[in-house]
Amino acid sequence: MAKRIDVSDLDIYYGNFKAVEGVNVSIEPRSITALIGPSGCGKSTFLRSLNRMHEVIPGARVEGKVVIDGQDLYGADVDPVDVRRQIGMVFQRPNPFPTMSIYDNVIAGVRLNGGKMRKGELDELVEKSLRGANLWTEVKDRLDRPGSGLSGGQQQRLCIARAIAVEPEVLLMDEPCSALDPISTLAIEDLMAELKERFTIVIVTHNMQQAARVSTSTGFFNLGGVGQPGHLVEFNPTEKIFSNPEEKATEDYISGRFG
Ligand SMILES: Nc1ncnc2c1ncn2[C@@H]1O[C@H](COP(=O)(O)OP(=O)(O)O)[C@@H](O)[C@H]1O
Ligand SMILES: [Mg+2]
Repeated sequence: MAKRIDVSDLDIYYGNFKAVEGVNVSIEPRSITALIGPSGCGKSTFLRSLNRMHEVIPGARVEGKVVIDGQDLYGADVDPVDVRRQIGMVFQRPNPFPTMSIYDNVIAGVRLNGGKMRKGELDELVEKSLRGANLWTEVKDRLDRPGSGLSGGQQQRLCIARAIAVEPEVLLMDEPCSALDPISTLAIEDLMAELKERFTIVIVTHNMQQAARVSTSTGFFNLGGVGQPGHLVEFNPTEKIFSNPEEKATEDYISGRFG
């Protein structure tokens, strides 16, 4: 299931504004890649270009290539709606469908994909996904209750269960813990370590301890100044980034000597 991602010469635009410039990177399957860097340098924009969510904004487009296991994501014959279904995304604020039950939240993506499953199969999928998200024991007795009744950390794990229920090839997470307390954050980090065995995970985080704890590789994004495009300054094994980075800008950023 897990796939490799090869990005070459990627520029990302909002209308005439070039938000991200010249990204070249290869992301290995079954890995966690952390993207760090100051606010506004294009981390979220880059992440959304990996599942064609970027283009939902009018005037937004990309130039360059994103290839997932040999398939050109932006090829003429590729349906962006299919791509978004295959490449799951978890956002900063947990966004379960508030009036939907926990059960229905988990299978929402599968339903959208038009999958016809029998009740027994759905029950199994719900359990498997909630177990996968380390949420099953906490919610198994109230699957029919609304997802909005859960705590923030539980809601985020519910969103992860929803994302993994469709068995995505790649899982993108944009600051998934920034609205969570430290205990829930650790629960999500543990979960990521397990999910890495099956998925290719790319996570944006402003928490450098988190990047150091969970990721195999880290990419540091930066921008030259206001109005200039962000770019990928350095991409290396996480251990190297945090002990002996190649670029001075990376070192300045991770050691807090920034701006
Ligand atoms: N919907 C949008 N329309 C126009 N510009 C945007 C939009 N979203 C982000 N940008 C701009 O793109 C740049 C990168 O933003 P973003 O990817 O959100 O950065 P980060 O996630 O690193 O904080 C910023 O200059 C931001 O203002
Ligand atoms: Mg962002």
